[in-house]
Amino acid sequence: MLKQEIEDGTVSFADPAFRADVLAGFERRPRAIPARWFYDRRGSELFEAITGLPEYYPTRTETAILSAIGADLAARVGEGRAVVEFGSGSSTKTPLLLEAIAPSAYVPIDISGDFLRESSRVLSARFPDLLVLPFEADFMRLMTLPRTIADAPKLGFFPGSTIGNMTPLAAVDLLRAMRASLGEGAMLVIGMDRIKAPDILVPAYDDAAGVTAAFNLNLLERIDRELDGTIPVDAFRHRAIWNDDRARIEMHLEATRDAEFTIDGRPFAMAAGETIHTENSHKYGARDARILLRSGGWTPIAEWTDPEDRFAIYLAEAQAERPAP
Ligand code: TRP
Repeated sequence: MLKQEIEDGTVSFADPAFRADVLAGFERRPRAIPARWFYDRRGSELFEAITGLPEYYPTRTETAILSAIGADLAARVGEGRAVVEFGSGSSTKTPLLLEAIAPSAYVPIDISGDFLRESSRVLSARFPDLLVLPFEADFMRLMTLPRTIADAPKLGFFPGSTIGNMTPLAAVDLLRAMRASLGEGAMLVIGMDRIKAPDILVPAYDDAAGVTAAFNLNLLERIDRELDGTIPVDAFRHRAIWNDDRARIEMHLEATRDAEFTIDGRPFAMAAGETIHTENSHKYGARDARILLRSGGWTPIAEWTDPEDRFAIYLAEAQAERPAP
């Protein structure tokens, strides 16, 4: 079993799922590691920094749209819904939604209990009268929501264009799971990033200050730290590529010279120019976005964008079980 010694002398064991994903990811071709492993403490801090970068337009654009549409959104969703957020709530976007719509409860769902407790604490302090019910779960799976909100109509909230980090196949699976979890009469507020010129898209994922590069490279540092790896991190560089065929930004780690290393005792070799695929961020045009929603069992009923049409927020309602014709 792999051990890791933390500064204060406590010993923790490496996550076996992390180890399995990394070893399998280095063995397969093309090499790829699931993006969820970016988010250790340092990764989460770097991600937070990315959202404030001048080149990274999505966060500020989505936040601006959300603050502009409060009244319209409130009129369309009505009062008393239980808001179910998929992923740990952001300290700026979530309050904007909660302030706009007077919900009966707020249920943040996250796989990381730490983030969940932290964001719930912050939210409860800000909305003392709101029933906050943190729910630790993998939102990719179908789940039974807390009994307390069984009878309230639900409003799913999925901002950040996180749906874009899934392949369309996985995105449709998730949308359908959300529809099944939220039930009849549910609505969904979801953010999606638009297709746009590569000279805007690429810098958003490859900024001048190198923060996104550091975020991507931190994955290798984490492997060295937690999985007893000997990867020479300085032999890798961050790449962000626009894949027009698939309408997505891809992030890769590219070997800049031949490198040999071990991970948990297993030997690996990469030649200069070889890459590890670490993230996708799919972009959706207006029609693409609506087809994606419909494929996942949601009927789009409203759409809001910024003046430059960079980012879109959709309001959708759960399709009836057997729609006509
Ligand atoms: N979903 C957002 C996006 O694709 C945020 C995000 C997820 C992200 N993983 C990332 C941003 C990796 C930069 C790098 O833009």
